[in-house]
Amino acid sequence: MSAQGAPAAQEDKAAQIPAAQEDKAAEIPAAQAGPVPPAKPLDARAVARDFPLLARSVHGKRIVYLDSAASSQRPCSVIDAMDSYYRTTHANVHRGVYEIAEEADRLYDAARVSAGRLVGSPSPRSEIVFTKNATEAMNLVVRSWGWKNLHAGDVVVLTEIEHHANLVPWLQLVEERGIRLRYLPVDLSTYELDISRLDEVLDGAKVLSCTLMSNVLGTIPPFQVIAGRAHEAGAVVIADGAQSVPHMPTDVQALGCDFLAFSAHKMLGPTGIGVLWGREALLEEMPPFMGGGGMILDVTLDGFVPAEIPRRFEAGTPPIAEAVGLLSAIEYLERLGMSEIWEHDQRLTSYALGTLQERFGDTIRIFGPTDEQSLDRRGAVISLALDGVHPHDLAQVLDQEAVCIRAGHHCAKPLMRRLGVGATARASFYCYNTEEDVDALAKALDEAVRLFR
Ligand code: ALA
Repeated sequence: MSAQGAPAAQEDKAAQIPAAQEDKAAEIPAAQAGPVPPAKPLDARAVARDFPLLARSVHGKRIVYLDSAASSQRPCSVIDAMDSYYRTTHANVHRGVYEIAEEADRLYDAARVSAGRLVGSPSPRSEIVFTKNATEAMNLVVRSWGWKNLHAGDVVVLTEIEHHANLVPWLQLVEERGIRLRYLPVDLSTYELDISRLDEVLDGAKVLSCTLMSNVLGTIPPFQVIAGRAHEAGAVVIADGAQSVPHMPTDVQALGCDFLAFSAHKMLGPTGIGVLWGREALLEEMPPFMGGGGMILDVTLDGFVPAEIPRRFEAGTPPIAEAVGLLSAIEYLERLGMSEIWEHDQRLTSYALGTLQERFGDTIRIFGPTDEQSLDRRGAVISLALDGVHPHDLAQVLDQEAVCIRAGHHCAKPLMRRLGVGATARASFYCYNTEEDVDALAKALDEAVRLFR
């Protein structure tokens, strides 16, 4: 919908959701309550039963899904919530006065509140912006905050382990604005960030933007330390939480970031919706990212007045059904418990590292921290290479065994160059994976070795 085509009065109305309605937004319809949570500690077998896709077979074998770092699967409750929304409720949000439109408003708002609660936002109704994915959330910060505040010669500090989503938007600003980039290096003996020269790298920087968990190495950088020093240096701090938010408790206040990006589809939710959390004071000062309907207070033929945050950043019809799915996914995750998910990930990662190293010895190279002491500094992502087997061949052989892994550069080409490889094979685990899945992975890797060596 074009901004000029939308009557200003209608958009004004949309900007003001009555308080009573906002309160109701936090209530989640009983129909979306989902399954009864499994007993703690997390029982991954019971969790897996909630995921219909995990019940299917491929090539006549039980599917073993080990690619959640690329995209997770969804429980029935998320699928049902979206199905039920489309069957009973759908209307556009922030536009209609009729019953189902107001129900859609409430659900969309409830998703915002819920996403804010998940990451410890003090003011979710202002601070949570829905985007298409984490990549768009990063682009929003770069294109809006960066475009307004960064000029030729300004320094942005990144790290060598970033996903392209936290590299390419900045490289675009290098080309367009003449900003300069500095990188915190990765120490290849530990696969952790080398922060020994942190203050030097941060000296004079305007921005520090860093992942909370590498999608290739699994490495969890010491973000609080880095963020604290970045703030002391006067930099704005951005966190890419695409891999971490789905897997562990997150508190933006404790992390000390100013912006946090994450994505629903890696945390049991649908594709098509991501989240940007930003400090209210910073968001207030930022210009719109895209123009169109829904993001304005007024439009004339000569100009426009943007809406308040967060709607200023949500041009056009937003991902409404996807927000309903995200709401349900967060509810599911919270019922499992983010700490329990994190503990489960650690147990499974420990088991997987032990199993793979024991079985393949010197013939396996694991790109990421491997010792038991590093488990609290790494996530459930294991990138590997097997001597004599190309990662893509490995992924294909594993597919024949119904084991789904990703092979490739994982949207982290600069990191691949540092590692001296073009690609890795990567297995990643989530709350529905079991030791049996790890055993299936090891068995399938054996099969690959048998075929290729
Ligand atoms: N960023 C996703 C991955 O690491 C797509 O696979």
